[in-house]
Amino acid sequence: MSTHTAAAPASALPELVVFDKVSKTFGSGATQRVALENVSFAVHDLPGKGELVTLVGPSGCGKSTVLRIIAGLRPHFPPTSGTVRVFGKPVAAPSADRGLVDQKYSLLPHLTVLDNIAFGLKLRGTGLGARHALAREWIKKVGLDGAETKYPQELSGGMQQRVAIAATLILTPRILLMDEPFGALDPKTRLHMQELLIELWRAQETTVFFVTHSVEEALYLGDRVYRMAANPGHMVEELTMPRPDVPPEQMRQQPWFADAAHELLRRLEDEAPAGAPLTAAR
Ligand SMILES: Nc1ncnc2c1ncn2[C@@H]1O[C@H](COP(=O)(O)OP(=O)(O)OP(=O)(O)O)[C@@H](O)[C@H]1O
Ligand SMILES: [Mg+2]
Repeated sequence: MSTHTAAAPASALPELVVFDKVSKTFGSGATQRVALENVSFAVHDLPGKGELVTLVGPSGCGKSTVLRIIAGLRPHFPPTSGTVRVFGKPVAAPSADRGLVDQKYSLLPHLTVLDNIAFGLKLRGTGLGARHALAREWIKKVGLDGAETKYPQELSGGMQQRVAIAATLILTPRILLMDEPFGALDPKTRLHMQELLIELWRAQETTVFFVTHSVEEALYLGDRVYRMAANPGHMVEELTMPRPDVPPEQMRQQPWFADAAHELLRRLEDEAPAGAPLTAAR
């Protein structure tokens, strides 16, 4: 796979997340599933900016497994073979420097929006006044004003997902892991959430790993896109994309972007081998 182009050679920059020939097998005998086979990639710490890495591929190709191994969450972690390093060290267990926004909403049903968002700070020992003040700032940032005292079941899917995102970002993780976070949203809310994520992410300089089934979302959000394939789960190619400078609706109307999305979809559908860069037509 190609390496990221940066001012300094990537290998000279500090490691952020490195997979070296990582394989993961679940079960044994007739029920054995090879979730990942020989997956290698490296994301380095770029000075002053985090990267946004998107992962695409068919269901079962191991996208969630990659994220959960980075997070240190069982049963995906530890891998069956190979090495995983985060911040230059082997992963040992989950940690607040790696925040996961799960495929399923992971809110606490008995807590209000405000307390859900402040929950991680409470675990860290932040006092009530300070954590509620910070949680209120995040409620504004994700556009949930007025919903402070509501409970998760009183919210729409889009609102719940904004609470989950705020609850994770408030902890300023260096690495943000997002597993199909916008999958259940209507198209308009989804575009709004994409813009919001880009905005929040620029302000935090967090490195984001973002799993999606939408090629447009992968290309719009990703500085690089990892395309995976299934049976067994493996990495096919790494594609680089320019940073978005316009909202997603406008980006979609640009012919070069539409062509890139069309080509990525074709490669996914055909399970094509690694191909040429997608942005040559730009
Ligand atoms: N806890 C588990 N126990 C056994 N097998 C598992 C477990 N989690 C995942 N697998 C298997 O590992 C493979 C990869 O699963 P994974 O959830 O990582 O795929 P995915 O790319 O995230 O799929 P989707 O797009 O459907 O979310 C699949 O074959 C799945 O059945
Ligand atoms: Mg998944």
